[in-house]
Amino acid sequence: MQPKTSHKALLKWIDKMVALCEPDSVHWCDGSQTEADALFEKMIQAGSCVRLDAEKRPNSYLFRSDPRDVARVESKTFICSFNRDDAGPTNNWEEPRKMRRKMKGLFKGCMQGRTMYVIPFSMGPVGGPISKIGVELTDSPYVVVNMRIMARIGDPVLEALGNNEFFVPCMHSVGYPLTDGKEDVAWPCNPDNTYIVHFPEERTVVSYGSGYGGNALLGKKCFALRIASTMARDEGWLAEHMLILGIERKGRGKNYVAAAFPSACGKTNFAMMIPPKAIDDVRITCVGDDIAWIKPGEDGKLRAINPEAGFFGVAPGTSMQTNPNALLSCRRDSIFTNVALTEDGDVWWEGLTAQPPKKCIDWRGEEWTPESGRLAAHPNSRFTAPAENCPVIDENWENPEGVRIDSIIFGGRRSGDMPLVFQSFNWGHGVYLGATMSSQRTAAAEGKQGELRHDPMAMMPFCGYHMGDYFRHWIKMQRGLTESPRIFHVNWFRRDADGNFLWPGFGENLRPLLWIVKRSTGQASAKESPIGWIPRYDDMDWRGLEYSEEKFAELMRIDRKRFRMMTLEHEQLFLELFEHLPKEVIFERELLISRLL
Ligand code: OXD
Ligand code: MN
Repeated sequence: MQPKTSHKALLKWIDKMVALCEPDSVHWCDGSQTEADALFEKMIQAGSCVRLDAEKRPNSYLFRSDPRDVARVESKTFICSFNRDDAGPTNNWEEPRKMRRKMKGLFKGCMQGRTMYVIPFSMGPVGGPISKIGVELTDSPYVVVNMRIMARIGDPVLEALGNNEFFVPCMHSVGYPLTDGKEDVAWPCNPDNTYIVHFPEERTVVSYGSGYGGNALLGKKCFALRIASTMARDEGWLAEHMLILGIERKGRGKNYVAAAFPSACGKTNFAMMIPPKAIDDVRITCVGDDIAWIKPGEDGKLRAINPEAGFFGVAPGTSMQTNPNALLSCRRDSIFTNVALTEDGDVWWEGLTAQPPKKCIDWRGEEWTPESGRLAAHPNSRFTAPAENCPVIDENWENPEGVRIDSIIFGGRRSGDMPLVFQSFNWGHGVYLGATMSSQRTAAAEGKQGELRHDPMAMMPFCGYHMGDYFRHWIKMQRGLTESPRIFHVNWFRRDADGNFLWPGFGENLRPLLWIVKRSTGQASAKESPIGWIPRYDDMDWRGLEYSEEKFAELMRIDRKRFRMMTLEHEQLFLELFEHLPKEVIFERELLISRLL
C-alpha cells in the first residue's frame, strides 16, 4: 500500500520499523467503517472474534483474550528517562540505551507473516489547540478496531499532521511472529516478554508482548497520561487521570467538574450518573470518564478536554441499575473483551442482570452454568464503546477549546475514616489532599484486598516522571491562573461498625456534588473543621432521601487521633520522594497536624 503522506519524519520512522519488524505488508488505516468491517470479517474468519446478534447488539463483536493477557502489567511498565532520578522511585526504570537495545532484539522480525497497520490518531478533536497527534504501528487488527473507537484515527489526522507537524511515535507488537508459515492463534501475545516502555524525553512509546487494553491501545495510558504528563510539566498544563462531567442547575447555569479516583473506584459511574428522581432540576452530562487534559485558557482559567473518543469500561457490575448510561453506550457499535456469550448471541457478565442466564459460554470459551462455581466474565473484562453513543454525552464534549473547570475532586475507597465530602482551604492544601490520596485495593488490582495503597492524584501507575516533581508542578500551576478551581475530597465507601455502607452512593452522589458546585460558585455555606470545610446537615440537598442528622454526623465524623496517625502514612510516601518533594507539601502536613491537636 502506498504511503498516504509526505511527512518525512513519519516515513523515515516507518521505513526503519518495517526493516526491523519485517511484516509481510503495510496497511495505512483510513479509519472508515468499510475498513473496520473488513478487519472484523478477517478476524471472524481467523477465529479471533464473534459477531454478536445483529438485533440485540448491532455492529458489535466479542473477543476472548489469552488468559495470561487480561490486564495492564505495571510490573513490566518502564519509564526510561535519561536520568534514573527523573523517573523517581515509584516507576520502573531502565537505562534508555540498554532498553532500546533490548527492544530492538525483541522487535527483530516480530511481524513476520503479519500486516503492519499504520494508525494515525488524534488525542482530542482533530486540529484542536489542546489536542495532540500520535501514530501507532501495530500488528494487531484488534488494536486497530479498538483505537478507532477510543481515538480519532485515519485520514483526517494525517491531513492535520501535514508535512512536518509533531507526533508521538507509538510502536506496538503482540510479539508472536508467524515465521516460516507458523499457525496463528486466536489471541497472539507473548506474556513472558511483555514490556510497556516509555522514553519521556523522546516522547515515544514502545510496547511488546501484550494485546490487551492499556498495554496495547497506546493512545490511552501510555500517551495520554505517561508521555502527556511529561509534556504537560514542560509546557505548563496538566494531563490527569480524571473524569469530566457537566452539571446543569435550572436557573443557575452550568458548571464542569474534574475528578480523580483510582482505577476501579467507579469513575465511569460518577461521570454519567443519573440524579435522584426528586432532584429534577439538575442534569448531569458526561465529557469523559478517564482522562482529562487541562490547560490555562486566555482568561487565566483552567479548561479541559477529554482526549479520548470512547469508553474502555469495566463490564462486571455495570447494569441498568448501577449505570444505565454506560450500558446504553455499548448497546451497539461496541467491542467486548472477556465477557460471556449468551445462547442468543448477546453478552453477559456478573451483575448485568439479577438472574444469570441458564447457560452461556464463559470468557475462556467454555460452557458455563450458574452452578459452574466460576466467573462467567473476567473481573477485568471490558466494553469499548463510542462516547457519542452515551445518552448523556455533553454538548461540549468535542469542543476543541475544552470546558471551563470550576471544581476538582479527589477521592478513594476508604471504609474507615474519610468523611463523605470536604473542601480544601486553598489550592496548596488541595494539592496536599491529592498528593496523600490512598485507596483500598479491590479484587481487580494486584495485592492484598482491602490494603491501603497510596495513589497520589490516582496517577501512581500513570505519572511519566518523578512524583515529587509532579506535586511541585501542581503547586506551580496555580501561579499563572486568574482564578483556580476549588479542590475537594470525597469518599463514597465509608462503613459503620457493622461493616454496612453509610452512604448509598451511585445517583445519591449528586448530593455531595451539588454542595461542591455550590461551594465553588459561592452559593453554599460550610463549617470549618481541622481537615477542611465541611457541609452542615442543612447545607445538603435532601429532597427525596430520608437520611437522619445522626447518620450524617457519623458519615462526616472526623476522628482526630486517626487523622493524626494518617499523617504518619503520608510520611512514608514523603520519605520515598524526599529529595524532590516541594516544601509546600511538608508545610501543609505540619499545619494539618497542628489543627488536629
Ligand atoms: C483504566 C484504569 O483502565 O485506570 O482506566 O486501569
Ligand atoms: Mn483509568
